[in-house]
Amino acid sequence: MQNKKISKAVINRLPRYYRYLGDLLEKDVVRISSKELSEKMNVTASQIRQDLNNFGGFGQQGYGYNVEYLHTEIGKILGLDRKYNIIIIGAGNLGQALANYSDFERRGFYIKAIFDVNPRLIGLSIRGIEIRSIDELEDFIKHNQVDIAALTLPKSKAAQLASDLTKWGIKGLWNFAPTDIHFPQDVIVENVHLADSLMKLSYKLSEKDRPADN
Ligand code: NAI
Repeated sequence: MQNKKISKAVINRLPRYYRYLGDLLEKDVVRISSKELSEKMNVTASQIRQDLNNFGGFGQQGYGYNVEYLHTEIGKILGLDRKYNIIIIGAGNLGQALANYSDFERRGFYIKAIFDVNPRLIGLSIRGIEIRSIDELEDFIKHNQVDIAALTLPKSKAAQLASDLTKWGIKGLWNFAPTDIHFPQDVIVENVHLADSLMKLSYKLSEKDRPADN
């Protein structure tokens, strides 16, 4: 595979390809044309061809795409051919909801521990995953392979915690606190804001109701 820079827009579309191909695999579909895939995904066939050409194509003239092969290759591009260990910081509503979602494991993301400051939560378990005291965090990271920390704690605490985590060697932050966290160099932060998605929905809904310009 060439080592060229892939655009953010293409990377943003890859998880969706991966998900659709995974659904096809579950239905025992062996191959699919870019036209069929495009109809299913509601993007143009030429967009699909262009996107996948970034990675060497994967398709064959007159055959289309081999679903399993394409799924595996996109998985590799997304780094899903390995396991990731995750810890969750903040065992409130959102932290517990994430911990309760077992499907992440199917994609190779394993939640190993949850940390909180609230003594009433410490010692409880969610799906067998223990809620530990935040005081144990540094030691836990030192003695366990941790790839990603999910931040589901109050906004006011997020930046300091993110800074501590990176100091202790964490390279991936999955930030849900409503503040954008940025680190230079080799720390990767994915900020997730459900409210942004809702605002896009509200924009589209209000756009639909807006009278057209004459
Ligand atoms: P919550 O109040 O139910 O839980 C927060 C937890 O963090 C509590 O258990 C608290 O004890 C713990 N905590 C506080 N300080 C801490 C520290 N220094 N170290 C470790 N744990 C600490 O709140 P909820 O609803 O679970 O939300 C959590 C965060 O996620 C908030 O910042 C909220 O704004 C954000 N959020 C973001 C969403 C998104 O789409 N990005 C959606 C929902 C919530």
